[in-house]
Order: sequence, then C-alpha cells, then structure tokens
Amino acid sequence: MTRILGVLNFKGGTGKTTTVVNLAAGLAQKGHRVLCVDLDAQGSVAAYFGAKYSYSLSHLILGDIPAEQCVQKVRTNLDILPSDKSVLDAQGYLWRLNDNKIARKVLQERLYALKTYDFVILDYSPSDNILSESGLLYIRELIVPVQMNHMAVVGFVQVSKTLKEIGKTPEHNVRLAHIVPTFFDGRRVKDREILASLQTRFPQHLTDPIRENVKLAEAPSQRKTIFEYAPTSYGAEDYGKLVARVLATPS
Ligand SMILES: Nc1ncnc2c1ncn2[C@@H]1O[C@H](COP(=O)(O)OP(=O)(O)O)[C@@H](O)[C@H]1O
Ligand SMILES: [Mg+2]
Repeated sequence: MTRILGVLNFKGGTGKTTTVVNLAAGLAQKGHRVLCVDLDAQGSVAAYFGAKYSYSLSHLILGDIPAEQCVQKVRTNLDILPSDKSVLDAQGYLWRLNDNKIARKVLQERLYALKTYDFVILDYSPSDNILSESGLLYIRELIVPVQMNHMAVVGFVQVSKTLKEIGKTPEHNVRLAHIVPTFFDGRRVKDREILASLQTRFPQHLTDPIRENVKLAEAPSQRKTIFEYAPTSYGAEDYGKLVARVLATPS
C-alpha cells in the first residue's frame, strides 16, 4: 500500500520544501520507493534536487501525457513530479471546468496510475487554491512544519480549521499526522515558549524540532539533500529522526 503524505502550512518559508526533499531522501535511502509531487508554481522541488525535466504536473493535468512519463528520476528510489509556472495554467483550466467536484478529484485520478511507490509526498504551495484542495482530497497523512514565530503558528491554525471543515465531508480521509517545529533555536526564549505551547496542545502530534542549521540553507544551492551535503550536521540528524518517526507511525 502506498502511503500518501502532504506537507502544508498556509504560510511561506516555514520549511515545507526542505521537509519534503529531506524526508523523501531519507526514506529513499532506507530502500523505500518515493515520489515527490510539487504543487507549487515556484518549482522548488526540482530546484532543490537540481533536476532537469521535460514534463511536469501541468502536462499531467492538461495534456495526454501518461503519469509514468511525467515523473523524473532524481536519485535511487526517488522520483519527482515537478512543477513550474505552467502549473498556473493547469489551475486556470481547473477553475474553468466549472465543476468543482471534478476539479478537486484531478490529482486523485491522474496520480492513480502511480501505484508502485511506497510513499508519495506532496509539497504544497502556501496559497489555498484548487490544487491544494485537490491535494487534500488525495493525501491521507498531513505534516505541518511550523516555524517558531507567530505567523507560522497562525498558518498552522488555518490548516487545523481547514482540516476540521473537511473532516465533516465523507470524501476526505486526511488526518493530521505530525506537527514539525522548524528553524528551532533553543537559545531563543520565544522558540522555547512556542515549542512548549505546541507540546501542551498537541502532545501526540508534535515531533522533535528541526533545528535552525546553516547546512540546511546551503544544501539546495549545491543541489544536494542534507544527507548528501552534510551527513553529520544537525540538519541531517534532525531529518533522520523525522524519517524514523514517519516510519514508526502507522499509516
Ligand atoms: N532548519 C532550517 N535551518 C536553516 N535554514 C532552513 C531550515 N529549513 C529551511 N531553511 C531554508 O529556509 C528557506 C525556506 O525554506 P523552504 O523549505 O523553501 O520553505 P517553504 O517551502 O515552506 O517556503 C530556504 O532557503 C531553506 O533552505
Ligand atoms: Mg516551498
């Protein structure tokens, strides 16, 4: 059975793509077959892996290109379905369908062919658009990276509200799996306070924090995952723990 995860916070720069890329890389290193699907027009997933590609998510949605051809191998056991600005055309097309039900089912239907993976991980854009909605209908486990500041916590509250809303509809099967504190620096009082408050409110969902680590910020410019770029860094240690936590959590 494929486990289908999504990494979402309705706030930019909270470590979504960093989490998707390194979680995927860690799982792939352990021998699991992983697909990362980029829903963001910024196209960061391909950039983080340094991947060149011919087809993207917009081809899958707009064209007749079969799903297997739209994915691109980037590492052993690890493929991506990249995005770029052209995904905005796909969004426009979905809006014009004038049938919200069909539009929201698009990812479920088009990605259905990709059943050979152990994990599919969606990287969301921070905006609440038709593709995000479609993504929420498709995934089963939601991971929310929360940076240790007020706005990222607000972004998380927004995600929780959305989850509550869609929880009322029988067609959704998504559940909150993990809240991942990101950019954590234990020397800052604010960080310790926000972490403690998340710990009190969501004890079963909160993971160990991903510490702020310059190696994590540098790795994408070298087109490397943290395990390739700095395998002994805090960043590699923290994402290694997240990989173990995801593997230890039943789907
Ligand atoms: N724990 C961290 N420590 C230091 N820099 C980080 C960390 N996590 C992410 N970054 C950097 O912060 C920026 C935003 O992260 P990113 O994962 O792209 O956020 P998002 O996808 O939510 O917009 C990137 O430049 C990334 O390299
Ligand atoms: Mg991103």
